[in-house]
Amino acid sequence: MRKTTSEDSTSAEPVGESDKRYPFVPYRVEKLSEEERRSRGEAFFAEMDRRRSVRGFSSREVPRELIELAIRTASTAPSGAHRQPWRFVAISDPEVKRQIRIAAEKEERISYEGGRMPPEWLEALLPIGTSWRKPYLETVPWIVVAFEELYGFNPDGSKRKNYYVKESIGLACGLFIASLHRMGLATLTHTPSPMKFLSHILGRPKNEKPVILFPIGFPAEDATVPDLLRKPLEEVSIWDPQPEPEGD
Ligand SMILES: Cc1cc2nc3c(=O)[nH]c(=O)nc-3n(C[C@H](O)[C@H](O)[C@H](O)COP(=O)(O)O)c2cc1C
Repeated sequence: MRKTTSEDSTSAEPVGESDKRYPFVPYRVEKLSEEERRSRGEAFFAEMDRRRSVRGFSSREVPRELIELAIRTASTAPSGAHRQPWRFVAISDPEVKRQIRIAAEKEERISYEGGRMPPEWLEALLPIGTSWRKPYLETVPWIVVAFEELYGFNPDGSKRKNYYVKESIGLACGLFIASLHRMGLATLTHTPSPMKFLSHILGRPKNEKPVILFPIGFPAEDATVPDLLRKPLEEVSIWDPQPEPEGD
């Protein structure tokens, strides 16, 4: 195998008919010293490591502009064929939040107490201390529901395929959460399943499917979170693995 050095470079020539291609523009990353790179990485890790899912919120207002910023940040995510198959639906109307709470608690109660969740799942949730009750859905100033766009439409109204929708929306939601955290806001990745009630309450079309509901605001004064540990690097990474020897 050819040994690579940090000075090696490859340039990818764009392919495809030029009138169908985007115009191509130069791209450069910020010039930083090794030390700056490391300290930025460490600072970002430390900041993200402080992020926690919050289930107790205050009703303190959050300006709409901050929610817009988080959605714009989410929308910078990479996506299959750049289809950006996501819609972020933002709700501040107390009546709609009330409807969402009622519907979410109805579904969650069936899941937790009506036998829809298998015992193994309920057991996995025990350390986190969740229940079917979701009062925070009415307390928070904002709820944002991320919808995946299963398919889009061509100008003539025919269906237009989207690609890697699950992966794309997952990436967008990750950036959304990171942005909220960076702005000093709190959220919860919430999936009150089945989530179909959200399409109905929020009047979303058939080509959109709700995937995650984010209550957003400030933690309650007395908010607590489970003191959980994150897996260490050794457990979540494998470095330069060798292929298995053939014939074993
Ligand atoms: C896809 C997904 C769905 C989740 N659904 C719920 C949920 O419905 N209710 C809840 O309280 N937490 C939910 N969580 C939050 C997890 O419990 C939480 O991320 C995990 O316990 C780790 O805690 P942390 O986010 O504070 O690091 C969900 C997380 C993910 C990634």
